[in-house]
Amino acid sequence: MSDIYFPAEDSYLLAGVVKKINFFNKEILDMGSGSGIHAKTILRQKIKPENLTLTDINPLAIKYLKKNFPKCNIIKSNLFENIKDKFDIIFFNPPYLPEDKKEPKSSRLATTGGKKGSEIINRFLKDAGNYLKKNGKIILLTSSLTRDINWAGFNKKLLAKKKLFFEQLYVFEISEKNFFDE
Ligand SMILES: C[S@@+](CC[C@H](N)C(=O)[O-])C[C@H]1O[C@@H](n2cnc3c(N)ncnc32)[C@H](O)[C@@H]1O
Repeated sequence: MSDIYFPAEDSYLLAGVVKKINFFNKEILDMGSGSGIHAKTILRQKIKPENLTLTDINPLAIKYLKKNFPKCNIIKSNLFENIKDKFDIIFFNPPYLPEDKKEPKSSRLATTGGKKGSEIINRFLKDAGNYLKKNGKIILLTSSLTRDINWAGFNKKLLAKKKLFFEQLYVFEISEKNFFDE
């Protein structure tokens, strides 16, 4: 059984970005919500809770989110598998670390993104465009330890970064490239 991911440095870096966004009248998806740290920040803006969808693959996280955010849409999903709507903003603080056999099984689901660390991110990016409304944005956290992210088809802008002892974290705003973009 995997643990719920409770906020760490990556969560707080993303939360700092989330705090500055105006969510009025926006449809929002928080992918891999974990403990719902970003839902808490977003709901402070008095948006309609039904405009906020929280998802996670971890059934324990889903149970916790249902209890703590009963008015939001909460969907157990492996990335976009069970998602039907389109959104103005999609957040993801994904599992981004390369596989490490020393990582306990109980935390791997939240931290490990595959052999290179980018496998979950790349699956996410491959499908994300289908779930964005016109001019929709993705806010994605990554790390200097994540190798080979496939950014093809997207424009990206760095919104925040933080140096930790052993890695650097980044938060990017990503949007789909238009025909006229380089
Ligand atoms: C690094 S944690 C982030 C949790 C929370 N958003 C935060 O910022 O503290 C990554 C989250 O993604 C979830 N996750 C991992 N693989 C997933 C997948 N394939 N589909 C959806 N969620 C996934 C994990 O269960 C975990 O809750």
